[in-house]
Amino acid sequence: MDDSGVDAVSDTAGGTVMVELVTHPENSDLVSDWLWGAGASAVVESIRSDGSVELTADLSAEMGLQDLPDGLAISARIVATSADDRALGQTWRDFVEPVRCGRILVVPTWRADLPADADSPDPLRGVTLYMEPGEAFGAGTHVTTRLCLEAVSDLVGGAESLLDFGCGTGILGVGAAMLGASRVVALDIDPEAVRVTRDLAALNGVSEVVAVTDDPLTRISGPFDLVFANVLIGVIEEFGPSLVELLAPGGRLVMSGVIESQRERVTAALAPLVIDNDVEVDGWLRLTFGDPSDAARGD
Ligand SMILES: C[S@@+](CC[C@H](N)C(=O)[O-])C[C@H]1O[C@@H](n2cnc3c(N)ncnc32)[C@H](O)[C@@H]1O
Repeated sequence: MDDSGVDAVSDTAGGTVMVELVTHPENSDLVSDWLWGAGASAVVESIRSDGSVELTADLSAEMGLQDLPDGLAISARIVATSADDRALGQTWRDFVEPVRCGRILVVPTWRADLPADADSPDPLRGVTLYMEPGEAFGAGTHVTTRLCLEAVSDLVGGAESLLDFGCGTGILGVGAAMLGASRVVALDIDPEAVRVTRDLAALNGVSEVVAVTDDPLTRISGPFDLVFANVLIGVIEEFGPSLVELLAPGGRLVMSGVIESQRERVTAALAPLVIDNDVEVDGWLRLTFGDPSDAARGD
């Protein structure tokens, strides 16, 4: 390892490399952003026993870690190259399995042969969402996606309107439509996310319910019974007031993608809403906000 904390690897010509970065929790979003920006097709995060965060991702061998800004990670190394043996040459797609989040079973299209819970034709009991994520975030592998999808399962009873802000693959909005939501708007600034969400809605037969757009929030007409935002703290701070305005009276705004030390900043950005439910898994928070009057009634 050199002075920058980055391991040098010589045999990376052509193909893909798997990289492993360890960072302080407060920098994990920045490292994750850097990895996505550097072209990763998947980023897997886990909290280590010492509280640091480990991020594993695939990058092109040409890109590798060469542009990683100094000081962003505690350590960074290439753990496998496509020139290595079979185990090291596998891509993340080989490891993804069907995952159940409440009433929604997410099945990657390329792993549909794996045994999974039975499909149910009754949306009240459960639906099977076939997933093809392309290059967008939200295959169901990340804990924040799963937390949000569980909230979709809990909150969508039928005929709700829902805004999926920062839709990525569209997994939340498509899942909601499959459970009976009557109007879904899925919005992302990333053209790949918009494309993938349109395809995902079609794949799962809910194109007529899910409107996909890259329009700015100011052009979206509400109100929505449910607003979902699994986005970074900076995005919540910038767009929180607009999201609050789009929420119908008595509605719920569910957000994830933040850690405990960011809770107060989220609460400030979404005032006057108040938290009526919170869950933490692997260091990630899911916060559900509602009207203060609802919270007082204990809804
Ligand atoms: C962490 S991903 C969440 C994807 C998916 N909703 C999920 O829960 O897995 C965040 C998404 O927010 C999108 N995003 C970031 N800033 C945004 C903005 N200002 N407006 C709309 N989408 C944004 C990103 O492109 C990305 O697809």
